[in-house]
Amino acid sequence: MSAPTSPSAPGRVDGVRMTGLSRSFATPQGPVHAVRGVDLAIGVGETVALLGPNGAGKSTAIEMLLGLTTPDSGTVTVLGRDPSTAVAAGRVGAMLQTGSLIRNVHVREIVAMMAALHPGARDVDETLALTGLDGIARHWTHKLSGGQIQRVRFALAIAGDPELLVLDEPTVAMDVEGRRAFWATMRTLAERGTTILFATHHLEEADAYADRVVLLAHGRVVADGPPTEVKAVVGSRTIRATLPDVDPASLDRLPGVTASERRGDAVLLRCSDSDAALRALLADHPEARDLEVRGVGLEEAFVQLTVDREDDR
Ligand SMILES: Nc1ncnc2c1ncn2[C@@H]1O[C@H](COP(=O)(O)OP(=O)(O)OP(=O)(O)O)[C@@H](O)[C@H]1O
Ligand SMILES: [Mg+2]
Repeated sequence: MSAPTSPSAPGRVDGVRMTGLSRSFATPQGPVHAVRGVDLAIGVGETVALLGPNGAGKSTAIEMLLGLTTPDSGTVTVLGRDPSTAVAAGRVGAMLQTGSLIRNVHVREIVAMMAALHPGARDVDETLALTGLDGIARHWTHKLSGGQIQRVRFALAIAGDPELLVLDEPTVAMDVEGRRAFWATMRTLAERGTTILFATHHLEEADAYADRVVLLAHGRVVADGPPTEVKAVVGSRTIRATLPDVDPASLDRLPGVTASERRGDAVLLRCSDSDAALRALLADHPEARDLEVRGVGLEEAFVQLTVDREDDR
């Protein structure tokens, strides 16, 4: 068992490195720029959440790092190698967004088949226990529920004891208990030093389980940092005040204000520190009326941060 390794430790091979990665698709409506110029380095032992709305480019980026899709430009390396080489060497475990299981085999058999393909595979019973499948090891794969199928797909991803685990929306269809067990296992794997990249729509999952959150919108990285930092970026507050005769640009300079705009007689101030901004606003403009301070919820702020880039389409 190895301890998590600092991503910045000198001489460590990269977990994942994407440089200027881009990929477009031709469609009857014209080209879709799914991923555009993504730079991302993930250190060995890091757990990174890839967040973003539908169509942000998460799956396309993941497919490139697994060697399933070829980039139009830019490069991607996995554990210091070309993606296909790393995958063929059995060093990467993956759970794609969609996929079905082979029929007419038992759960244990399918996990054992996957393990047999990997020289340094994890013990099959351990994989079954880690993924909560020990109770249904002798069930047929074609008679499983949606959540059970997800667990088996997770078991297949970790069966080879991979160094890098890539999971595209892994908890879809899992119930509360399934999710809890899934994340407990993920913690165990992360503590053993597995590098993990998972795509999700659930901010709370990213917050609770990732060392780092990468937010994608319209194919670009729009935020990248520890969950607390990303929350600070998206979790801002807004002050609204009736203040007819003031140029909003002059309000940008107030402490705690990050942006301002006019809406009729009112001004809207987006704030990093709404307390400081409010004090300064009232000191400079005692005539300000109808003051409202509104917290931007994480979900709402997340949507805000991602629709701001509508012009990127
Ligand atoms: N094979 C393809 N052909 C055409 N367009 C594609 C193809 N694959 C992806 N796209 C488009 O690229 C964009 C990014 O898709 P992608 O699946 O990477 O998004 P995503 O972030 O994984 O979304 P979701 O949260 O819905 O899974 C979308 O606009 C999608 O329609
Ligand atoms: Mg996807």
